[in-house]
Amino acid sequence: MADVAVRPHETRQTGAGEYAYQPGFGNEFASEAVQGALPAGRNSPQRAPLGLFAEQLSGTAFTQPRAVNRRTWVYRIMPSAAHPKFSRIGNGTLRGTPFDEIEPDPNRLRWDALPLPLADERVDWIDGLFTIAGNGDLSTRNGLAIHIYAANQDMTDRYFVDSDGELLLVPELNPIVLHTELGPLRVTPGEIAVVPRGIRFRVELPDGLARGYVCENFGAAFTLPERGPIGANGLANERDFLYAHASFEERGHTVQVVNKFGGNLWAADYDHSPLDVVAWHGNYAPYKYDTAKFMVIGSISFDHPDPSIFTVLTSQSESPGLANVDFVIFAPRWLVGENTFRPPWYHRNIMSEYMGLVRGTYDAKAEGFVPGGASLHNTFASHGPDAETYRHASTAELAPQKLDDTLAFMFESRWTIVPTGQAMSASWRQSDYDAVWSGLERRFR
Ligand SMILES: [Fe+2]
Repeated sequence: MADVAVRPHETRQTGAGEYAYQPGFGNEFASEAVQGALPAGRNSPQRAPLGLFAEQLSGTAFTQPRAVNRRTWVYRIMPSAAHPKFSRIGNGTLRGTPFDEIEPDPNRLRWDALPLPLADERVDWIDGLFTIAGNGDLSTRNGLAIHIYAANQDMTDRYFVDSDGELLLVPELNPIVLHTELGPLRVTPGEIAVVPRGIRFRVELPDGLARGYVCENFGAAFTLPERGPIGANGLANERDFLYAHASFEERGHTVQVVNKFGGNLWAADYDHSPLDVVAWHGNYAPYKYDTAKFMVIGSISFDHPDPSIFTVLTSQSESPGLANVDFVIFAPRWLVGENTFRPPWYHRNIMSEYMGLVRGTYDAKAEGFVPGGASLHNTFASHGPDAETYRHASTAELAPQKLDDTLAFMFESRWTIVPTGQAMSASWRQSDYDAVWSGLERRFR
């Protein structure tokens, strides 16, 4: 089919390859890629400007309270209703709820990094998704799935939309560019991005290869945790969350839209790009955040607070303080506690903890927990520092110490996180993980 000239995106750039963004978590934004595309004074005029179609994208029920209500008005070249039937395609290594392939396993689990695609394989971001674990029920909007991606091909004429959940992306190896309906976001390791449920996007790999983690959140949309006595500032500050500017594509040939719906993949061939939004206004939009901007709060006397002090984003349940999933980071910080065992203490926890590592080392594990790898400590699994870390931390001289060049994170959930069969049988699972605690000795006298 003839390729009608694809108008380069109206991607706004501030120079030197930098994308421009609009700041402010949950703000009411307005953006137009072509001047005059946004109607003034009303959302749905009899004829939208420039021959565009007006469409509302609702991320919450119409009647939810203002504080959580999210919707965006888009002005697009074709209404998104203009598409043919979706048909089932293979799920590849993607899995959905229920996570019941194996019996829930009380053992502590750890994995090396997901192997990268070989040079002669063509794997885009969708095909590169590998589901590690999950919980809940996507049909009742509870729980989460944890995926890893490893890809070496751009999505050029292929788009993804997740009807089941919101996607929190944590790049580990190389940046990704998310071309979304509401504009592009370039996300580099150290940054994270959130694509709300139902928003179409494609992923480009500027370095030709990328790997990272994905939390697919079936529950309430991620929001910022309350600060309580911390006050009005600190942790992740609202102004540091960045949203895209309007940008659009025109495609004159057939493209494929892959829809994750009910845990399965469906696809339809479109005769236009679904990223054809010329202007938009609203508060339901993808965003990114640089974890280097996280104001880390910790003890300046003794002990250290519970790791909830490191929460960046939370998906709350109906019980106050009980998260469907929390996204928590272990970022560079000073340790100054006096007469304190400074790494994480030994603990057992009703909450379930999946941890990953973007770079550096994590202060509870001297070795074996590698960038791109992961550990899973489920409900009441006993864990904490490995023997080497304990030996060092319990005898070290307690001068002020900077933990630098490190970024670990945790997806922490109220429910047991059950691994998939493929994660349990993966060659890159560490079958001897328990051994990290085997060198601990009796010290009781
Ligand atoms: Fe833990």
